[in-house]
Amino acid sequence: MHKLLIRGGKRLSGRVKVSGAKNACLPILAATLLTEQRCLISNVPALKDVETMLSILESLGRRVKRRGGDIEIDQGGVTEVTARYDLVRTMRASIAVLGPLLARYGEARVSFPGGCVIGPRPIDLHLKGLRELGAQITVEEGYIVARAKKLKGARVYLGGHFGSSVLATANTMMAAVMASGETVIEDAACEPEITDLASFLSGMGADIDGAGTPTIRIRGVKSLSGTEHRVIFDRIEAGTYMMAALITDGKLDILGADISHNIALVDKIREIGGMVKEGPEGVSVSRRSRKIKPADITTFTYPGFPTDLQAQMMSLVSISGGISVITEKVYPERFIHISELNRMGANIILEGATAIVKGVGRLSGAPVMASDLRASAALVLAALVAEGDTEISRIYHLDRGYERIEEKLSGVGADIRRVEE
Ligand code: EPZ
Repeated sequence: MHKLLIRGGKRLSGRVKVSGAKNACLPILAATLLTEQRCLISNVPALKDVETMLSILESLGRRVKRRGGDIEIDQGGVTEVTARYDLVRTMRASIAVLGPLLARYGEARVSFPGGCVIGPRPIDLHLKGLRELGAQITVEEGYIVARAKKLKGARVYLGGHFGSSVLATANTMMAAVMASGETVIEDAACEPEITDLASFLSGMGADIDGAGTPTIRIRGVKSLSGTEHRVIFDRIEAGTYMMAALITDGKLDILGADISHNIALVDKIREIGGMVKEGPEGVSVSRRSRKIKPADITTFTYPGFPTDLQAQMMSLVSISGGISVITEKVYPERFIHISELNRMGANIILEGATAIVKGVGRLSGAPVMASDLRASAALVLAALVAEGDTEISRIYHLDRGYERIEEKLSGVGADIRRVEE
């Protein structure tokens, strides 16, 4: 296992390039199951979660070729409709193979995905979407078993207790593209990753409109063909680097970032005294005011403030000049990072799904443990500004969603090294 050693206090400055979006490429890779023809997907980041999805596709009979960020997927030999427990249990997004397998073969067996440290991860909306399209679904020996002779278009309401669901929307879209008749998905997720999936499916010949809005209409087609597609940039990675510039009082040009995918974050950055300028290659971020100001943040589904940037924002306001209130409306238990940040001198208390962050003058380096992908990113940000050395262990959590993070950060002046545990 590896750990990161970070010596805080360096102001970051320079250009950092954003990779392709993890949360766009995972459902897109799953969607290649909808055709036996060759698909070429480019700008795919080198991440553990991508490797897991590719292993699942190979276990389902696909042939995968990888050249850098380009992935070629073709029909292999035997076709399999069971996504095995040993593969699925390591990544919740594996559930995204359920819809395409059902659409293509009329049958799918996917191991029930586990929960994780950010809270329970129910799949009731996924199963609701597939049932409304005519699937029979049972749970057998820890597997979700879905069967459907022919999926039939329907009007499906996918709003849940916490609002819309990204991957339930993705699964229902992929099940609907070859169903007979029209499907209308109401309270669909509006995330840019859903829009990118729709663009990929349309490239395969699907008939979709409304992606990116709460109402998506899909008219079923007979079959889908292979296609080529470039994955959008990762707005969560971009947002993480924007906050790295601010927390170190530096200045970063974040290449490939598009403000339009981070409107809520950019609004908050300006409120706390940051400056975000759009340029031809991306965005430039630095502090406008000397000190970070406090702010109140509530996470919502897109276009609200992303839950995936909540932990990173908490690190940033932990050194503000006042008291910030952070409320989680998407994953109410997503606060595992608080205990580790407090070990670094932050002053944060939790009241239910609301954290009260009292700004402190400084953070101090300490040995801390990564636990969840975005909580780990929050610890990296805190370590960049903390006085002294921080050692972050179990950074395989980080490697799930951040490509070459220590290279990208040291490339703009951070004192950061990856070493064997
Ligand atoms: C996607 O997960 C992302 N993952 C998550 O990013 C992200 O945090 C999440 O969307 C919210 O934006 C990928 O895209 C691979 P949801 P997903 O279904 O689709 C509840 C990261 O760090 N819900 O939109 O699984 C759920 O409990 C990861 O990159 C139900 O109630 O999330 C949550 O409270 C972490 N029933 C809310 O909806 C369901 O059937 C939103 O979850 C499904 C979800």
